[in-house]
Amino acid sequence: MSNEGHAPAGRSTRRDVLRGAGQAAAGLVAASLIPQPARGAGLGRAAHEYGVVPVDAAAEPGRRQDSGGSANDGVVIALIGAGGQGRSNMRGLMNKPGVQVAAVCDPDERHMAQAAKMVEDKFGKRPAEIKDFRKVLERKDIDAVIVATPDHWHALPTILACQAGKDVHCEKPISHNIVEGRAMVEAARKTKRVVQVNTWQRSGQHFLDAIDYVRSGKLGKITLCRAWKVQDPKAATMGKEAPKSVPSALDYDLWVGPAAWEPYQENRCHYRFRWYFNYAGGMTGDWGVHMIDVVLLGMSKSDDLVMPTRVASYGGKLFTGPEDDRTTPDTQIAIYEFPGWMLQWEVHVGGQGLDGGRDHGALFIGTEGRLLVDRGGWSLFDNAGKPVEKPATANPRVGDHNDNFLTCLKTREIPRSGIASMHQTTTVCHLANLAYLHGGAITWDPAREVVTNDKKAMDLLPYRRPYRKPWSLPKV
Ligand SMILES: NC(=O)c1ccc[n+]([C@@H]2O[C@H](COP(=O)([O-])OP(=O)(O)OC[C@H]3O[C@@H](n4cnc5c(N)ncnc54)[C@H](O)[C@@H]3O)[C@@H](O)[C@H]2O)c1
Repeated sequence: MSNEGHAPAGRSTRRDVLRGAGQAAAGLVAASLIPQPARGAGLGRAAHEYGVVPVDAAAEPGRRQDSGGSANDGVVIALIGAGGQGRSNMRGLMNKPGVQVAAVCDPDERHMAQAAKMVEDKFGKRPAEIKDFRKVLERKDIDAVIVATPDHWHALPTILACQAGKDVHCEKPISHNIVEGRAMVEAARKTKRVVQVNTWQRSGQHFLDAIDYVRSGKLGKITLCRAWKVQDPKAATMGKEAPKSVPSALDYDLWVGPAAWEPYQENRCHYRFRWYFNYAGGMTGDWGVHMIDVVLLGMSKSDDLVMPTRVASYGGKLFTGPEDDRTTPDTQIAIYEFPGWMLQWEVHVGGQGLDGGRDHGALFIGTEGRLLVDRGGWSLFDNAGKPVEKPATANPRVGDHNDNFLTCLKTREIPRSGIASMHQTTTVCHLANLAYLHGGAITWDPAREVVTNDKKAMDLLPYRRPYRKPWSLPKV
């Protein structure tokens, strides 16, 4: 429930505090979208310290402000993008004490109705059903929004939400391309909004344990990491479809939004938009963000992540073939050069992953042993490949990803999976697709966020896109 109207005289409500900075920032927005240096100061903390106050709160997007009350008191949220993941995220948040859902938003009335029913079943009151997210952002009673739209629709609602004074829980990958990801970071920083990305592994105890172990140096010198995701043959196949008439419940023009116009086909709309560069980044933008994030965290000292300087990537629709409608590769290998080490990212269709690992994972290869981590747990191996006993956890449970978001709404700290850090991981993924589409290795300047060996690569979709009118990337 909101605490608006319940604050003692002379004391700001929590909502006043949450909204203030964003409103002050709205209207001040005018700057170029030319990429700026990628690093936010003071992001650094050890894996087991996630969620603790940032080093220099005053320099960070989320600034500590006293709002009173408990972490979860009176938060009113709205859901933007009521598909499979959006409804799941909303369920997770609305099951936390004190969270209310005021509105659900989707261009597909069927998805919107499903989400509204979930809220009605839980609270006995149906939320507002609003097709256009800009109307959601106009509402004064909403503190925070979940953005769980397809990837091509993450940046605009997130930036506009920040500028409207709302905090944001945004799905991964944060952006459709690198330039809009940078704009999202700047929008959050300028408006002092809390923007958490749903790379929930960052709140997973065994992931934190594995990252701590890698950072401890006990694996010896690590010069090679590998990460991968294997796709099921059926899920990889889009088939060949002819354009169809749009279902009456769907505002397809709004669904396409800023992407290039294409006639409606079921096999590139709900859920399956992932496998088309017009809307997303294929498996590299999907699971790559999760698994590469784990590698980057392990190989960095903090969540201000180490970035590559050279990337090559090759692959193709080697399983699905030219007759299939998907445009992203079903088979892809990306090789990254970082200072002193390399990462190989691999996508293919079939059964097992690398080294007998499961269908996804991240592997750190050191001179003293190997560490394998995936969603099922983590394992250590000696140089002969024998399993080694793991140390006890140094990361006592501190709540899940949603708890962290709700806490940060109150404290104004940078959440786990803060937008600046997740822009770095997402950029690393976009770089693989950029190199793949470019057809050769690209060199990258992480500070200026530019390709240095061929400027033409920066006209490719993973770097920036033309926005279909009337949509444009908001000025930040
Ligand atoms: N963190 C995770 O583990 C995880 C898991 C699955 C999906 N995801 C991410 O969640 C996002 C959504 O994926 P999904 O599988 O739920 O897709 P989906 O197609 O099921 O849902 C997306 C929804 O957004 C709606 N939408 C489109 N344009 C919109 C707009 N302008 N305003 C409001 N809603 C709009 C669509 O109509 C659809 O209902 C993707 O970015 C995906 O990568 C993350």
